[in-house]
Amino acid sequence: MRSQHFPMSKGAFDRMPKKLGWKHEYWDGQAHISPRWQSVTVTLAVQPHPVRTSYTIRAVTTEDEPQLVAGYIAAFEDSFDFCDWELAKIHAAAREDVRKMLSGQRGRLLPASCLALDPHAATQEEQIMGAALITHSEGHLPLLDIVFVAPQWHRQGVATALLATVSNAMFAAGMPTLESHYMLGNAESRAWHQHFGFVEEPDLLLAKTYYHHAQYELHRREDLGDLLVSEREKLRAERDHWQARVDELEQLAHQLGMEAVMPSLRRP
Ligand SMILES: CC(C)(COP(=O)(O)OP(=O)(O)OC[C@H]1O[C@@H](n2cnc3c(N)ncnc32)[C@H](O)[C@@H]1OP(=O)(O)O)[C@@H](O)C(=O)NCCC(=O)NCCS
Repeated sequence: MRSQHFPMSKGAFDRMPKKLGWKHEYWDGQAHISPRWQSVTVTLAVQPHPVRTSYTIRAVTTEDEPQLVAGYIAAFEDSFDFCDWELAKIHAAAREDVRKMLSGQRGRLLPASCLALDPHAATQEEQIMGAALITHSEGHLPLLDIVFVAPQWHRQGVATALLATVSNAMFAAGMPTLESHYMLGNAESRAWHQHFGFVEEPDLLLAKTYYHHAQYELHRREDLGDLLVSEREKLRAERDHWQARVDELEQLAHQLGMEAVMPSLRRP
């Protein structure tokens, strides 16, 4: 995935919809659209889930390192998280992240960590469909450190089956909450986390981002003059919802301090 730089008039730029998690800038007669690198922290109330698959899901072992690196690269090389990265650097990051997770350098790797394997694959590297690795550092919640699915398996319930397996193992081990982070601009990760039931932690900066996004979209559509009454009401309701959320979180920050409304201040 690459940032975009393309010529357009300032008027056309001002009428463009903005994508959440991306910077939209204008200079020298060009639109410049690049990642904002804003992270979202979410938690999941762990519950048992049914797992029905025709493929294998099993616990991760240190022997799986080469497969995990191959799967990581396939899943992330065109993702928002590595937007504008050179391929060689993505490969190096994959090797380092997987090595650190498997060796406990990012917290203890929990036995709930699992991977999905295609029993019909020709080679071992093609076998990996996806993986979910859970690490746990002292004094913090268990973390979904990485979840990925190889592109050819997307939208077939693989990540859902992996997380259902993780949830069942954590539930059995008496672990009630799982934390995860994703980039706001990673639309598929955001949609998937929401679909599985992860809930955003109180985050003032994020609430302000949603508020500005909703406000911009309302003004943009009003300027275009193509709004139906019901659409205007919906956009106003969204803007007002985020304004109320910002007010609520500012009050919380006043009472309890910024740590209560900034998840990044609570990380290891
Ligand atoms: C995010 C990711 C793990 C999802 O894996 P997946 O196996 O395709 O997800 P599932 O099939 O279990 O999706 C379940 C639901 O999540 C939502 N969802 C998943 N991917 C989506 C997408 N690209 N767009 C919109 N909704 C999506 C949908 O509601 C989907 O249900 P549906 O297919 O019935 O509509 C996968 O896209 C991926 O590996 N991306 C690259 C790596 C990455 O970004 N990992 C997360 C980093 S935090």
